[in-house]
Formats: sequence, structure tokens, C-alpha cells
Amino acid sequence: MKKMNRSICCIGAGYIGGPTMAAIADHNHDRKVVVVDINKARIDAWNSDKMPIFEPGLDEVVKRRRGKNLFFSTDIDKAIRDCDIIFVGVNTPTKYFGRGAGCASDLQFWEATARNIVKVANRDKIVVEKSTLPVRTAEAMEHILSRHPKYHFEVLSNPEFLAEGTAIADLENPDRVLIGGHQTPRGKAAIKALAEVYATWVPKERILTTNLWSSELSKLAANAFLAQRISSINSLSALCEITEADVEQVGKAIGMDSRIGPKFLKTGPGFGGSCFKKDILNLVYICESYGLKEVADYWRQVVLMNEYQQERLVGNVLKTMFNTLANKKLAVFGFAFKANTSDTRESPAIAITKMLAEERAQIVITDPQALRHVKEDLGDLPNVKTSADPYEAARDADAIIVLTEWDQFKALDYEKLYKGMRKPAFLFDGRNILDHAKLRRIGFEVKAVGK
Ligand code: NAD
Ligand code: UGA
Repeated sequence: MKKMNRSICCIGAGYIGGPTMAAIADHNHDRKVVVVDINKARIDAWNSDKMPIFEPGLDEVVKRRRGKNLFFSTDIDKAIRDCDIIFVGVNTPTKYFGRGAGCASDLQFWEATARNIVKVANRDKIVVEKSTLPVRTAEAMEHILSRHPKYHFEVLSNPEFLAEGTAIADLENPDRVLIGGHQTPRGKAAIKALAEVYATWVPKERILTTNLWSSELSKLAANAFLAQRISSINSLSALCEITEADVEQVGKAIGMDSRIGPKFLKTGPGFGGSCFKKDILNLVYICESYGLKEVADYWRQVVLMNEYQQERLVGNVLKTMFNTLANKKLAVFGFAFKANTSDTRESPAIAITKMLAEERAQIVITDPQALRHVKEDLGDLPNVKTSADPYEAARDADAIIVLTEWDQFKALDYEKLYKGMRKPAFLFDGRNILDHAKLRRIGFEVKAVGK
């Protein structure tokens, strides 16, 4: 007899769908895992030698299981029919039209997926929310899924907590796997079935089960708390610059308090990435829709502080370079929103480069992985160019501005860079990753964040 709840499909082959399903396939050789997407180019890339996303360790896992029990396809209907467990990992961007524009989540991709499941399903299925969704989304999904005259779809929430750049390591060794479901016999059975998928490699005590709504909200809450720490330290970086306190020393001192902890206290150009801003604004919108204005205002401030940090960084560049950037050449080191990823979604470098370009500076951006996104993110700005070679980018430049903490930037020959630049040569270390004393000895005029 066919075993229950064995085969898996994931709708959405993006940053989440691809890596999570590769990890599941890698630890469940007896389960077939099919990842599907409407984007054919993306699926073709997953099936090629060049993955559609850069993520350390990803190639190895995919190549190990692809064609064995891991498959990438555009045949969404077949994948839905063939599987028992459907993960939905489609994008849920901020809505940019109508009510809630700029804040609410745009759930059109999610809803389209739910309707499609109802249309093509041929038996009962477990439907797993992998995307990050507003609390109580499952209710709406169940409403659509319950229209089926014959089959039952049990909805679970299983948010993903991996961070880009460390996705494979995070999947291998997660702090926790969260599964939310209804506390009914069917709900509990579905939770158990999904827990079994993870239990092949995640210790049992790290598989946490909750009710559906707690699980949905916990994902938004985790991102809001993480982002809040960054805005908190960035707010203090502004005060440090005036008072001669050093933000790194302050971060270390407070982080040694075991109640605070050392992680996520690194100051910089503000948080980027596809999720922090989107998820906090979504939390803000939900609070506002329930009439919780004070709660909404509290969380909105985390995003406002992030924007302020980016404006402040540009203000510092302008002030230090004698209040004019017109026709000065600036080398921007880093376009990805963090190191070890090619992702530039909401990268601080986008807003910062735009502000610098408005000052009519001549800008050359260099990045080891993300240059392919510059044009789509910035549009056709005549005064912005790119170069894969940092030495080339900095040639004849008046300043280097470091925006991403790539190891490659730490390893550069700064004497060589300095020699090729116009003097005085400025260096703005927006990530505080370089040896500032050494740079000053070379001759750079160095500015760091919060120092
Ligand atoms: P993404 O844009 O990289 O991938 C989403 C994919 O879904 C796209 O390839 C798109 O073509 C596909 N898609 C959209 N509608 C579809 C449909 N109807 N049928 C089939 N495919 C469809 O997005 P992502 O970064 O993978 O994020 C997906 C979700 O995961 C979001 O809700 C996000 O908040 C959440 N999340 C992302 C991360 C991350 O690190 N990127 C981490 C945790 C959670
Ligand atoms: C974040 C969360 O860390 C993940 O747990 C979550 O799953 C994910 O969002 C999501 O929901 O998409 P990610 O955005 O990939 O992951 O990367 P982070 O490492 O969290 O970095 C986010 C931004 O904060 C980056 O721009 C990074 O440079 C910045 N950051 C991070 C700081 O400025 N300081 C820090 O101390 C840490």
C-alpha cells in the first residue's frame, strides 16, 4: 500500500523554495520532492550548472539530489496532483496599490496558488504556508480551499527562518523548526506528518508546534525583533559620532550582558533584504487594521530609523567632502544587501547610490556577485557605472564607500588602491570592517559609522 504523506511539492522556486526543498530532499531520500514555478527561466537555471541564486554550499546539495529525488519543473498542476504535502513558497511582497499600499502584504500570488490547488487536486492534501504571511492568512486560504466538494486540505504554517548567505548552514542546523496547525484530530495528524519530514535531521526538541496563528505571527515577530536591534544600534551610532563614544565598544559592552546577547548589534548602512522592511510594515498594517495605533507606531519607527541611517551616511559623505560631490568620482564597494549573496532586494546601496547620484557624483559600483542587478535596481542613471574590478572602480576616485561586508573587500591591497586615487583620498567604511589605523597610516582620510 502507498505510504501516506510521503511525496512533496513546493510551489515557488525562489530563495526559499529552492534551498529548503534541496535540504529536505537531501535528508529524505525516500521522498520525492518537486519544486515548481511559473518562471521558466528560473526552473531552467535550477536544472543547469548555474543556480539562479548564489548561496554558499547550495550547488553541492542540489547536484547531490537533482534527478534522484529532487526535481525542478514548470508543470505545476502535475506536481500538485502527484504529491501529498504542498509547500507554498511564493513571494508575498508589499502591496503597492489600493488599500494598505506601501504596508500590507500583496497576497495575490498566494491566493492564485490556493485556487489552483482546489482546481487540480485529486485527493486530500496538506497545504503548508512556507511564505511569510500576515497573521490569520490561513483563515482566508481555508475559505478558498474548503470550496472543494470532495477533498480536504489541512493548512499548516511552517515559516522559514533561514538568512541569505548562510541558508544551507541554517537549514542544516536550525535553532528551531516551527509548525503551526489546528488543534483538531486532522490538524494534529498533519502537524505530525510534517514534523516527520524534519525529524530525519532536526533534533526533536527543536521542532516546535503551536496553533496556526501563533506560528504565523511568530515569523513576523522574529523579523521585527531582529530588525529592531539593528535600528537600536544604528540610532546609537548617530549619538556616538557626536559624543566620541565608539559604537563598537558600546555594542560589545551591552552584548556581553547575557540577557541582551552579542548578535545583531552590528551598526552599518541600515538593514536591507527582501523581508525585514516588508514584514515590519505588514505588522504595522495589521496592528492599524485592528485599531492598535500605538503598537503600529512603535514598530513603524524601526523602519523610519533605518531610512534615517541611510540619509545620515550620505550626509556624512557630503559634509566630509566639503559639501559638494558634483563631478567627484566615488567608488561604491558593495551592492548586495549583505555579504555572500547576490541578492540586492532593498539593499541599502540602492537608496544610498541614488542619493549620491542626485548630488551629481560620478559613481562606479563594484561587487563580487551583485553587479547584474544594478541596472534593474537603479534604472539608467548616466552617472553610475559598474566594474567587477575594485582597483579599476577606485582608479582616480575621490572616495571609496564600503556598503557590503564582503571578505573580498577586506583582502584588498589598500596601498595600491590609495596610489590610484585622487588626493585627498577619503574612505567611508559603512560596515566598519577595515583596519582604520592602517588605512590612516597609508594616507586615507577615514570615516566609520558610529565612531
Ligand atoms: P522569490 O521571489 O525569490 O521566489 C518566489 C517564487 O514564487 C518566484 O520564483 C515566483 O516566480 C514564484 N511564484 C509566484 N507566483 C507563483 C505561482 N502562482 N505559481 C508558481 N510559482 C509562483 O521570493 P523568496 O525570497 O523565495 O520569498 C518567498 C517567501 O518566503 C516570502 O513570503 C518571503 O517573505 C519568505 N521568506 C524569504 C526568506 C529569504 O531569505 N528570502 C526567508 C524567510 C522567508
Ligand atoms: C533575515 C532573518 O535573519 C532571517 O531569520 C529571516 O528568515 C529572513 O530575514 C527572512 O524572513 O527573509 P536576511 O534578511 O536574509 O535574514 O539576512 P540578515 O542576516 O538577517 O540581514 C538582514 C540585514 O540586516 C542585512 O542588510 C544585514 O547587513 C543587516 N544587519 C544584520 C546589520 O546591519 N547588522 C547586524 O548586526 C545584522
